Amino acid sequence: MEKLKLALLGCGHLNEIVAKALMDGYLPEYELVGVFERDFNKAVNFSKTYNCTPCETIDELMSLKPDYIAEAASVEAIREYGEIILRNGASLIVLSIGAFADKEFYEQIKNTAFMNKRKVYIASGAVGGFDVLRTASLMSPITAKISSKKSPKSLKKTPLYKEGLLDIKESEQVFSGTTKEAIEILPTHVNVAVATALASAGPENTLMKINALPDFVGDEYKIEIEGEEVKTDLNIYSKTSDIAGWSVVFVLQNIVSPIVF
Ligand SMILES: NC(=O)c1ccc[n+]([C@@H]2O[C@H](COP(=O)([O-])OP(=O)(O)OC[C@H]3O[C@@H](n4cnc5c(N)ncnc54)[C@H](O)[C@@H]3O)[C@@H](O)[C@H]2O)c1
Repeated sequence: MEKLKLALLGCGHLNEIVAKALMDGYLPEYELVGVFERDFNKAVNFSKTYNCTPCETIDELMSLKPDYIAEAASVEAIREYGEIILRNGASLIVLSIGAFADKEFYEQIKNTAFMNKRKVYIASGAVGGFDVLRTASLMSPITAKISSKKSPKSLKKTPLYKEGLLDIKESEQVFSGTTKEAIEILPTHVNVAVATALASAGPENTLMKINALPDFVGDEYKIEIEGEEVKTDLNIYSKTSDIAGWSVVFVLQNIVSPIVF
């Protein structure tokens, strides 16, 4: 059987997990045809390891006619290339979900995918449970909250950092607001919150809290929804961000699997 053509947008840590999983036999239905990345040297090195074509432009990548493009680059990359990818015949698996906090952009991407008979897959990334969130929100209006724990160090280069944060001795709340407000302040840190919001009450109505914890390692998220009949309380801890790369492998497996989870 002819293999599906997979291409990667971004040659960083997470897409390396995807490429390696393919090489290690987790995705036998796919072949990696090419990669595009803003640092061309990085793309060249990546392509040598994973045996595919390095591309200097998105047009070059699209000329390889990929069926699927897995994005692990940045919110800007989704804004810049999302439409081009879908219009040129590929479906898109997204990790930089923060791009979709902008309602107008989200609607535009949805429409382009529909018009071109393509799909946008929102990978579960570092969280999950989107199935129960979607299902519960069908049954009745729901309220949704997501809270996250982070190390003070991980907030260092963000607007949430303030003097003394590195020396805190107990948990300190550093943000409370809607997920839409969170993505404006922390464009690269709250992809999971936007994904959770899109699957539940929407970015403007899903509340987010971020707590800094001394000596905390990794990420921990708590997702709570409450509807008339259904309540959830999901806790997801991950030591590293690798879970996000593996969630893309899972999406790619699901796409070809006779049994879909
Ligand atoms: N949804 C989730 O749960 C989740 C979890 C972790 C990370 N992420 C997101 O996934 C993305 C990738 O994470 P990573 O750890 O692999 O990052 P990384 O920095 O290791 O790799 C990203 C690569 O993409 C390239 N890139 C960035 N912007 C680009 C652009 N506009 N055009 C072309 N190339 C571009 C960079 O040069 C870099 O090589 C980030 O946006 C991150 O915020 C999402």
